[in-house]
Amino acid sequence: MQKEDLIFFRKWFFEYINQFFSNDPFIQKNIELKIKHTERVCKNSILLAESEKISEEECMLAETIALFHDLGRFEQFIKYKTFRDSESENHAVLGVKILNNEKIFSRLSGEEENLILKVIECHNIMEVPENIKNSEKLYFFSRLIRDADKIDILRLASEEPAEEEKRNPALELYLPDTWGYSEPVISEILNNRMAKIGDMKNRNDVKLLRLSWIFDINFPATFSLLKKYGYLESIMSSLPEIEETESLKTHIKEYLDTKESETR
Ligand SMILES: [Fe+2]
Repeated sequence: MQKEDLIFFRKWFFEYINQFFSNDPFIQKNIELKIKHTERVCKNSILLAESEKISEEECMLAETIALFHDLGRFEQFIKYKTFRDSESENHAVLGVKILNNEKIFSRLSGEEENLILKVIECHNIMEVPENIKNSEKLYFFSRLIRDADKIDILRLASEEPAEEEKRNPALELYLPDTWGYSEPVISEILNNRMAKIGDMKNRNDVKLLRLSWIFDINFPATFSLLKKYGYLESIMSSLPEIEETESLKTHIKEYLDTKESETR
């Protein structure tokens, strides 16, 4: 992959998304949300790639994956007016379908094209599939996009307004704003495991599930970036002060401190 290829991809991406711009404020807001997300994921991917001291060519591959990882989001939103895959379709698979139809990676080697498409297709699966884990290169880029993506989803979660009327319906899970936390969600966190979507019962559980992503982070630099950005702290400060909250916060902070000290 050459520098010119990356320039071509960036230009192609911004021309492609132009068709989705709308006078409807709801549509425009959500298209802009995904553009900003893509830009931030690109930035995070570059920072993580640089921290891993990989070659310049591999850094460009990481940026290309980030640039296209959510390409399916634009068509998904226009078609279904939601970003919830369960109520529309799998945005990663949709993105790969578009990329294949457009044949934009035909300028790359077959190996590079295969790597980019495979990593994008699996970026939203809860656990990295075995066929990816079996290839060192696929596994590396898979872990990288997952960390870069998680960092920015945590930014969005940390910016979520407390008032219901200010929330974005395209991102809403419509869980009730009830008291307390779901027991299995707490238990997973205290055991350093990611919480399960099916165990979420209310809005507090959604916040805890996001926080539990720290147990699925792959690179030391991701912890440094999360600390620098302060997203986890702001999500934690939005949790209601009930009996379990302090022990959960302490557990999460202790885990982050341990990981932080490992990066030094
Ligand atoms: Fe994403």
